[in-house]
Amino acid sequence: MKRRYLAVLGLLVIMAMVLSACGGGAPATEAPAAPAEPAATEAPAEAAAPAEPAATEAPAEAAAPATEGVVNLTFISGGPGAGLDFTKQQVAEWNAANPDIQVNIIEGPNSATDRFGLYLQTFQAQSSDIDVMEIDVIWPGDLAEHLVDFNEYGGADAVADDFPAIVTNNTVDGRLVGLPFFTDAGLMYYRTDLLEKYGFSGPPTTWDELEEMAQTIQDGERAEGNQDFWGFVWQGLAYEGLTCNALEWVYSSDGGTIVSPDKVITINNDAALNSLDRAYSWIGKISPPGVTSFKEEESRAVWHGGNAAFMRNWPYAFSLSAAEDSAVAGKFDAAPLPGAEAGLSAATLGGWQLGISKYSKNPEAAAKFALWLAGTESQKARAMNVSLIPTKASLYQDEELVTAWPFLPRMVPVVEEAVARPSTATAPQYNEVSNIFFSNVSDVLTGKQNGADAAANIELDLQDLLGFEVGAP
Ligand code: GLC
Repeated sequence: MKRRYLAVLGLLVIMAMVLSACGGGAPATEAPAAPAEPAATEAPAEAAAPAEPAATEAPAEAAAPATEGVVNLTFISGGPGAGLDFTKQQVAEWNAANPDIQVNIIEGPNSATDRFGLYLQTFQAQSSDIDVMEIDVIWPGDLAEHLVDFNEYGGADAVADDFPAIVTNNTVDGRLVGLPFFTDAGLMYYRTDLLEKYGFSGPPTTWDELEEMAQTIQDGERAEGNQDFWGFVWQGLAYEGLTCNALEWVYSSDGGTIVSPDKVITINNDAALNSLDRAYSWIGKISPPGVTSFKEEESRAVWHGGNAAFMRNWPYAFSLSAAEDSAVAGKFDAAPLPGAEAGLSAATLGGWQLGISKYSKNPEAAAKFALWLAGTESQKARAMNVSLIPTKASLYQDEELVTAWPFLPRMVPVVEEAVARPSTATAPQYNEVSNIFFSNVSDVLTGKQNGADAAANIELDLQDLLGFEVGAP
């Protein structure tokens, strides 16, 4: 018991260090600390989930008795929305059914960028404090050396029904370092009632159309008295989420993927830099000035309160937007994001995997738990309850699921055609690549540099970091 207590304490110290480090220097926190919050306060209970449960949950966890013959595992989860609460329920279910393998779930930082920092520190310390962790789709290459190969624990059979591209993404040098948990792709949420009210026949397919619709609806709603209303909300804080948004602007303008799959640095082109300038032009016009401090949940809060016509977000927002406490329930739908021209559209591929730390003292028990949590039944339950969409192809034909979420089958092409961040080409340095990208994009959004300077700076920094050639997308 004492050893376990110390281990948990150690983890908490590392988490505190990482969080304060992130708070100190990372660009993520150079944005105004408090997001513009007129509607944010109207966020639903889920959005207001405690930010630092790691600290609050520690005592209960530290007090867990180390009973003879019982393996205690620590699982780090997190993410925006109601996903974590649901995963907690699933863990409770596991614990009730598996008295010999007990799992403590800890909430890691919500921001993927901060979470990566935490994982890296525990890995660098070769700490056995974390057994199972949620791994972002962009991390297998960066973190592979610290992760267990699921092939040693029946992983190959377990992923037989998963989308092959996700399995490939989780396979590094033949090692299966992540079990697909759920997938993600950027979506354009829009207000069906307001489109109709203002005479638009469907969601925008180009950025020009989006701008026009957002402005018209915003002007109209404000004229009717809602001064808090905005046309378009998205994720503009300097963190991984901004890389996702900006990749969509760039790629949907034919500006490439920052670094190409064959290791060419392609970001410095007119289409890319113009798309960054375009995003800057939205701020204060159709997007709130506070958007430069928004992560997923801050943008959803504005939308959820009925104060935005359009929102860029992930599928998790679907179930929350349809919930009883949502001002937009029954008044919205989701469509592919627009592009610079009709036919061009880009959704950044996201999603999470389960990984097991190589430094875990109980990899076998951890694998047993992970295989269960990433399994078909568990994924179906997660999709039903919190609209985190499955990685198992067969679930997209599951009648019960499709009846609950008619949008689900429409997600198949979106996920299949989603644009990947350049994590494979740049591994194990993707995290640094993304930092360079989102920091420079953030400087465009806050008016510190224009798109041309940003593209040139990103190109230079990436050349320094990666030593790759420069070329056209
Ligand atoms: C979502 C995506 C993940 C992405 C993150 C950025 O969680 O699933 O891939 O990195 O958002 O905020």
